[in-house]
Amino acid sequence: MNDDEAHASGTPGPHGELFLRTLAMPADTNPSGDIFGGWLMSQMDMAGSMLVRELTHGRVVTVAVDTFKFQKPVKVGDAVGCYGRVIRIGTTSVTVKLEVWVRPPTLTGEPQKPGFQVTEAIFTYVAVDEAGKKRPVPDSARAAE
Ligand SMILES: CC(C)(COP(=O)(O)OP(=O)(O)OC[C@H]1O[C@@H](n2cnc3c(N)ncnc32)[C@H](O)[C@@H]1OP(=O)(O)O)[C@@H](O)C(=O)NCCC(=O)NCCS
Repeated sequence: MNDDEAHASGTPGPHGELFLRTLAMPADTNPSGDIFGGWLMSQMDMAGSMLVRELTHGRVVTVAVDTFKFQKPVKVGDAVGCYGRVIRIGTTSVTVKLEVWVRPPTLTGEPQKPGFQVTEAIFTYVAVDEAGKKRPVPDSARAAE
């Protein structure tokens, strides 16, 4: 079942396409032992930039991050997936909504538990040329809007 089918059937799941998958490691923790929020923000920025880079066929930079929500803590060993979808395409900018879902580890052979959402945020990127100057988003990108 893909994301759209899951939502149509009422099954909760991530919105958007998976752009980054990684593992939360002990080196990424804060002093309380949970995963550091800054690490999660960095993973999301990478996922969003990959989405927008593919869409605009070139270099992009992050210009804004809005409405960050940390809903649940991430634990060491969680499999972390960053999902993204386009919510606005401007002249030179693309705004995406990113969600992070985690799957706790299954160390004892029991069935994989369903994942759950831990974070969401809105990121805006600007398409830039080799000199770092803004460039128009190609028309081909608008089909994804
Ligand atoms: C991104 C950058 C190239 C924009 O250059 P600029 O000539 O000042 O461009 P503008 O002010 O015209 O903005 C360009 C686009 O970004 C959008 N934008 C600018 N600030 C924004 C903000 N705070 N929130 C949302 N969108 C914003 C503008 O609306 C415009 O979109 P549009 O063309 O689709 O209408 C420039 O600001 C820059 O290089 N910033 C640093 C980027 C960076 O280093 N990011 C990593 C941070 S560690």
